[in-house]
Amino acid sequence: MPLHLEPDDGPPSFPDLLATAGYRAVAAGLRLGLFDALADGPRPLPSLAAALDADPRGTGLLAEALVSFGYLTRGPDGYAATPETAKWLTGGGYAEVDKFWSVVLFESWQGLEESVRTGKPAIDFYAWLAERPEVLRRFQGMLAGHADAIAPEVASIVPVGSTLLDVGGGHAKHAIRLCTAHPSLEATVIDLPDALAVGAAAVTDAGLSRRITLRAGDYDTLDLGEGYDTVLLFNVVHGRTAEANEALLARVASALRPGGAVVLLEHDEHPPDRASDAFARVFSLNLFHGQGGQVYGTSEITTWLTSAGLTTPTTHPLTTSPGQSLLVSHKP
Ligand SMILES: C[S@@+](CC[C@H](N)C(=O)[O-])C[C@H]1O[C@@H](n2cnc3c(N)ncnc32)[C@H](O)[C@@H]1O
Repeated sequence: MPLHLEPDDGPPSFPDLLATAGYRAVAAGLRLGLFDALADGPRPLPSLAAALDADPRGTGLLAEALVSFGYLTRGPDGYAATPETAKWLTGGGYAEVDKFWSVVLFESWQGLEESVRTGKPAIDFYAWLAERPEVLRRFQGMLAGHADAIAPEVASIVPVGSTLLDVGGGHAKHAIRLCTAHPSLEATVIDLPDALAVGAAAVTDAGLSRRITLRAGDYDTLDLGEGYDTVLLFNVVHGRTAEANEALLARVASALRPGGAVVLLEHDEHPPDRASDAFARVFSLNLFHGQGGQVYGTSEITTWLTSAGLTTPTTHPLTTSPGQSLLVSHKP
């Protein structure tokens, strides 16, 4: 991060070598609790190493690397977090995002070449997550936090009747928001058992256990039911192959009543600014590697929807999540 290297005539990969090493050092700092240990002010090296229960020489070398990348400063009282580091990388806020992505990039991307070579995901992301309960909790926590942020805008766009099915709705935040806003609405949420455990706690806390049914299982094989007014498919199709999406959308179409709506939440294929576009490309590569998916364009999604007998979708870009849109399509 804060090196801001100017382009020069050197190898184009060198800034990325530094950035990657810097991010790995940040991940080590987060996992060791280094930034939290500096939350109350600077510490001399012996005190910092003792707080981390870590080797003083190793702690010093890590701290020096973090100074060079602009995350820490070194002064008469020892090492200190910069104001930006204190704001973003201490506690359980944005630090959770870095803890998640650093594990993804430095562990799950080990077999990236194999995915690219074979065209098949080298890992099964959700099985990989299930083996790592802490990473799974963090992943669902990130999704739930994002859902909380966009839920009011989403609720203003989603067409609602009396029944709603949220396919892959794990944390249940959207079902909770919509049931709260529409007192006669009843919702069903389908997800894998570990993810649904997160949703079960949220539904109980919201006092909505009677109106929100949680169904644990594989949405590719469970009977989805029929007659729904609304089906949500939020952040689902990007985690699957085109063939799998065509099959799922055909089943979703069967689960809708005539006039009912399917609403997809997806990332825009080409966000306007350069950083968002780069993130979308990295995200897409990660989806391919772990799930055989990618960020799909609206035209391809439209083809699947119309092949399933649904209407061409209307696109609603989200102001609360720039770079993401809701696609609303109906069953004629
Ligand atoms: C990217 S998350 C999206 C969660 C939520 N819809 C949202 O937008 O915040 C995808 C969800 O699909 C679930 N999922 C993945 N494969 C599944 C399957 N075969 N059957 C049921 N759920 C699945 C995951 O557990 C996860 O909760």
